[in-house]
Amino acid sequence: MPFPIHRPRRLRSSESIRRLVRETELSPNDFVLPIFVCPGEGIRRPISSMPPQAQMSIDVAVEECRQIAALGIGGIMIFGLPETKDELATGAYDDNGIVQRAVRAIKREVPQLLVITDVCNCEYTSHGHCGLVVDGDVANDPTLEWLARGAVSHARAGADIVAPSDMMDGRIAAIRTALDANNFQNTPILSYAAKYASVFYGPFREAAESAPQFGDRRSYQMDPANAREAIREMELDIEEGADMIMVKPAMPYLDIIREARTRYNVPISAYQVSGEYSMIMAAAQNGWIDLDRAMIESLTSIRRAGADFIMTYFAIPAARLLA
Ligand code: PBG
Repeated sequence: MPFPIHRPRRLRSSESIRRLVRETELSPNDFVLPIFVCPGEGIRRPISSMPPQAQMSIDVAVEECRQIAALGIGGIMIFGLPETKDELATGAYDDNGIVQRAVRAIKREVPQLLVITDVCNCEYTSHGHCGLVVDGDVANDPTLEWLARGAVSHARAGADIVAPSDMMDGRIAAIRTALDANNFQNTPILSYAAKYASVFYGPFREAAESAPQFGDRRSYQMDPANAREAIREMELDIEEGADMIMVKPAMPYLDIIREARTRYNVPISAYQVSGEYSMIMAAAQNGWIDLDRAMIESLTSIRRAGADFIMTYFAIPAARLLA
């Protein structure tokens, strides 16, 4: 007869006790802020579906990075908007591409800030798909070469970590081989290992101007209904040499984060994607939800599920709240 001996409420009776027994802590160190870099100078172009996020020219991004570093945020993840797009995603692996230039500028001006680059082709192809399109679908193996070249060009520009998000088969092995062949044995790969074909990427595609012009991404990104397949994807990526893995989106896939945490000893990250962010912001702007509490609770849930670090558009305000 546990009651009245056991009364779990005893350990919730004051903030000091709650703090003592709290199982999950958030720290700005655990946040990575995704940023969108565009050509030009002095530009800060608001992304309407993700207030107050904005596309920034490199000079503006560098200034923002000083603040990000001062707040103790773990790092940034760079996405690029190229001047031009083509069938071959040339801008993705050009040493003078937008991401490569942004990395060089940021590492020069704010060297202590960790820079992760998203390795993908969808922002650089005229059709918005993540690789070479043959007969209406993305051809896997030729796309690996673009990805490998992209990752090497990011490393050459000074990226601390490369993060492939394309979901092609065999990309981790291809990128590892190419990095090693170019003397980047020490550049880690953070694999978007379990990336779902999610509706929650909607606002991002406005931000990155990367919506597919025909069809969808379901032949490469995963079916939201599948969990065992996520385990297989993560397993293969670790075997191929991923140093860290990611689950994406985050809150609708907490079970997958937990599964990854239980099975693997590599660092696990999760991406609180654009749609997750926009839903919270929209509700808060309507006065339907408390923004600060929603941001902290959502991030805490992702950490509690097992993520070591989180890609989140809330990185700056959450870091301020935790300060
Ligand atoms: C590129 C990529 C996407 C996101 C991150 N990398 C878009 C997509 O796969 O369509 C989404 C991030 C977000 O929604 O915040 N492939």
